[in-house]
Amino acid sequence: MTKERYSRIIGSGVYIPDRILTNRDLAMRVDTSDEWIVTRTGIRERRVSDKDNPTQGAIALEKALKSAHLKPSNLDMIICATNTQEQLFPAVAAKIQAKIQEGEEEPQYMAAFDIQVGCSSGLYAECIANAYIKSGSINTVGVVATDTLTKITNYSDRSTCVLFGDMSAAEIITVSSSPGFIAFDLGTDGRISHLISCHIYSDKFHGKSYLQMDGKKVFNQAIRRMEETARNILKKANYSFSDINLFLAHQANQRINENLLERLDIPRDKYFSNLEKYGNTSSPSLLVCRHEAKQEGKLHSGDLVLSVVVGSGLSWGASLYKEI
Ligand code: UT7
Repeated sequence: MTKERYSRIIGSGVYIPDRILTNRDLAMRVDTSDEWIVTRTGIRERRVSDKDNPTQGAIALEKALKSAHLKPSNLDMIICATNTQEQLFPAVAAKIQAKIQEGEEEPQYMAAFDIQVGCSSGLYAECIANAYIKSGSINTVGVVATDTLTKITNYSDRSTCVLFGDMSAAEIITVSSSPGFIAFDLGTDGRISHLISCHIYSDKFHGKSYLQMDGKKVFNQAIRRMEETARNILKKANYSFSDINLFLAHQANQRINENLLERLDIPRDKYFSNLEKYGNTSSPSLLVCRHEAKQEGKLHSGDLVLSVVVGSGLSWGASLYKEI
């Protein structure tokens, strides 16, 4: 009888830029206030990077490899989740592959590619890694989620500039005889893809392209879709909300997530958040939450973790994970 293959996370790492941009800093640039931002979003500060995605992504991946006690040559694949790639091509993942093997006499040429699914990208990358591992074709994947949203943020638009920050996170996902990842639920409504967008060749803003968002509509969609995907995945995997030990949700707006907790009847103490410190970092948001929850002792062996995300597309997704 063939043994069932599963996947699990055996290491993680993050890159957190040093430079802090506070609400008060922003209030000096646009007509806003610390009070408005905190009350309407829950964000107090965010990070601004002076590095590009390949550099900060490679730092996060090196830390994740170290925490898994592995070397770059142990990776069979690198998947990079990003929305802010500096070039249309080559893939950020290819540059990360080269950076983590700089100086190696015999570098390994594992597959390396990018995916782009807005703020849902990190969870989608985990799902792809899980599918490859389960199929039996490979054993170990480095998932990197990296974004530098401040580089495409319009700092004269108060409705978006208060929201975003820069960050990278990485996970090492490997084959396991028990889950690990139990289930995924993914979805997209392309009819409303215009709600969050960034044109590449736009000359609207003096040749620079900025992120644009219909905040109110995204707000409503975010609650609706994250609630639906959370219910779907539990039904699919035959669990109930009372089984969940840790709830992770995309960090975009604390009011969205508080609304979700109420609708799903999940107690506040099962929810981990770092939105206050980092703002919305897009693809790394979920991975950074998981990493910090573990570091802070809020994720234990045997815990069942429900994660939900939403992003441009409009895309959404959920995962159910058993911590081993
Ligand atoms: O990562 C992808 C997912 N993204 C999200 O989930 C973001 C979802 N959207 C949101 O988080 C919220 O819609 C925002 C934070 C973007 C906006 O909050 P809101 O409570 O929906 O505000 P609003 O757009 O309804 O605007 C209310 C008022 C407006 O003024 P008037 O028209 O009532 O005079 C805005 O001009 O607040 C004003 N406003 C601000 N005031 C001070 C908007 N941004 C600001 C600001 N400071 N930064």
